[in-house]
Amino acid sequence: MRWIDTLEAAAAENLPEAVHRYFRQGSAGGISVSEAVAAWSAYRFRPRVLNDVSTVEIGTTALGTPVDVPVLVAPSTMHRMADPDGEVAMAKGVGAANSIIGISSNAGTTFADLGATGVPWWLQIYIVRNRQITERMLDAAVEGGARAVVLTVDTPVVGRKEDVGETVWDLVQPGHLLANLPKGDWAEADLAKADDLNPDVIGWLAERTGLPVVVKGVLRGDDAKRCADAGAAGVIVSNHGGRQLDGSIPTAQALPEVAEVLAGTSTEVYVDGGIRRGEHILAALALGARAVFIGRPALWALTVAGSSGVTRLLTDLATELDHCLRLAGYRHPTALTPDLITRRFAD
Ligand SMILES: Cc1cc2nc3c(=O)[nH]c(=O)nc-3n(C[C@H](O)[C@H](O)[C@H](O)COP(=O)(O)O)c2cc1C
Repeated sequence: MRWIDTLEAAAAENLPEAVHRYFRQGSAGGISVSEAVAAWSAYRFRPRVLNDVSTVEIGTTALGTPVDVPVLVAPSTMHRMADPDGEVAMAKGVGAANSIIGISSNAGTTFADLGATGVPWWLQIYIVRNRQITERMLDAAVEGGARAVVLTVDTPVVGRKEDVGETVWDLVQPGHLLANLPKGDWAEADLAKADDLNPDVIGWLAERTGLPVVVKGVLRGDDAKRCADAGAAGVIVSNHGGRQLDGSIPTAQALPEVAEVLAGTSTEVYVDGGIRRGEHILAALALGARAVFIGRPALWALTVAGSSGVTRLLTDLATELDHCLRLAGYRHPTALTPDLITRRFAD
């Protein structure tokens, strides 16, 4: 059996049931989370033949940072429940594979400690109602060496989880979350997500931090265009791993429309959600993504084998992608075009 496919069951044995459920679950009825992987697997390839594939190169750049593999780690919370060293352990694993990690603004590790790892990291930000909190968090991230700001836009309110019994929130301890919340006597309302955002926030973030801004949670071409027009350096086609509006379309379905709108612009396209195999990465790159992000598999790998598990996950996916590229008749992802794919979605 493929090692990556063993990870979730192995992680479940090491995690409290409520934490395992928190990592795996989607929102509401769980439709989007359950469709994500199958949507990538539904694509079919039209491989090229009689092309020299004796040397294949899968390295690329993401916002100018070189990566050995076009697979980055998506921002997620509660890393300390998977490994006592939390985000630092995840970052070290990512660094050993020469990739990039997204760090949640809810992370349980300080941006200074992350910066000390030397691993390239992008800050994921939720803008909260009290902008002072967000501003100070952004300043700390810049200080800690963040190379980009990932603005999550699919979360004006947090998606409803239909839990029964013990939940992750019953187990969460100080230090698991919000290590970068600036000191202050904040009320709950200060920390609520800002639900009045518009594209101007992209320019504001870029100006405040001096960093490129990547908008995460885009599922439509028209929204991608609004982001690009407002100065976004990138967009991540994402439905938040099926954790926000349940029934949102699979990212495998959303990606072609977004990539088409942004083709020929300087705004880079990324995608996440249900990407589990080299074939899925091949499809995403052919449809216009510069790189993909993976979420849950990295949490499982961190739980099962710490930093080295995360490195193995990324290098195994790199090996699979290399293999798939050869079979598809390509030497480099930049040569891929959408005609490699046939669609199976009924629009
Ligand atoms: C446990 C968990 C926590 C997450 N926390 C965040 C977060 O704090 N910020 C964010 O933008 N996305 C968050 N996400 C969404 C991921 O960044 C990503 O979009 C999603 O996990 C990708 O799908 P995949 O898990 O199928 O690979 C989280 C996902 C999971 C599974």
